[in-house]
Amino acid sequence: MTEETHDAGAAPPMVEGWSRDGFLGERAGLVRAHYSPDYISVSGPHAPRRLKIGDVSCADHFDPAALPTVFAAAPSGLRLSVSKRAGAMPFALRNVEAEEVHFIQEGAIEFRTDYGVITGAPGDFVHVPRCVAYCARPLTTPFLSFIIECPGPLKFDTPSPAGMIHFGKDVVRARPEDIEPDDPPTDLALKSGDEITLFKKAHDPLAARRQLAAQSPVWKLNLARVQPVVYWPHGGPPAHFLASPNNEVLLYTLSARPGGRPPIHVNADYDEVVHYFRGPDPWGKVSEPGTFTWVPKGVPHQGPREDVERGYLAFLLESRATLRLTPAGLAASELMETGAYGRHETANGGT
Ligand SMILES: [Fe+2]
Repeated sequence: MTEETHDAGAAPPMVEGWSRDGFLGERAGLVRAHYSPDYISVSGPHAPRRLKIGDVSCADHFDPAALPTVFAAAPSGLRLSVSKRAGAMPFALRNVEAEEVHFIQEGAIEFRTDYGVITGAPGDFVHVPRCVAYCARPLTTPFLSFIIECPGPLKFDTPSPAGMIHFGKDVVRARPEDIEPDDPPTDLALKSGDEITLFKKAHDPLAARRQLAAQSPVWKLNLARVQPVVYWPHGGPPAHFLASPNNEVLLYTLSARPGGRPPIHVNADYDEVVHYFRGPDPWGKVSEPGTFTWVPKGVPHQGPREDVERGYLAFLLESRATLRLTPAGLAASELMETGAYGRHETANGGT
């Protein structure tokens, strides 16, 4: 990394923090003799990388029966995928191992589920819990989504019951639809990792007469409706809004906010994924909508200023389990510097 990624006119920051349990645990710090995010080159798989999710090659763009393409995975069962679905799924799919959160990057999609119908548009997180079947159908194309498969139940976990998210207005639940589709699928696919077990049924497996009193477990929430938390005037750590058991996976908004630039730090327990949804302003050296960045745990990093004038929308996913890019992810990605999250000057020279 070069000096231009440091704050212009300021002395290079040399204080490096170390934190346990992400933003929630023990902390320590020291003054380094040099800017610790810099590196000359790297070899091995535990290296920061970035990619445009649109650059991931996706079989489901051409084959409606294909599954989304996994581009990163962890031993916990967390899997990150990309979908470019162009046609309706020919079966109802029930993921028996994981919750699915579909973040819509481009286009619009309809999910017909066991518990009602919901549509997703750019910026929406659509949450389909484990063992709820769905059939997805793009409404506008080109379509592009980033899918998070998370084994543990993801629950809302905000600093207070109100303020960060308007649960009554902005968390939209799927609703039962009386109209049955013309040609509904009669196959039910149970998905376990990459395995599919196909049940032939006599009838539409999603058909239901009515929903009982409890609310639908299928919901959506737009990233723009999640308020960033700030400790005035310096910013401070962000706050998560979704969590899985033992905080194995945490989801935050990392959209523009007051406070400046984060400190240099080493995250002892979490891999950090930041997905830049869109501007108008760039986030440091990240300016293209749909850019995924990954800093593995233990890698010194800083990150760009967050108090940009016109703003941007982004989210942070923390994974306690260590991620690895799959061959599809490696093929689409490039090595990243961890000051402003730009392309490393030796990009694609590391593996
Ligand atoms: Fe960090």
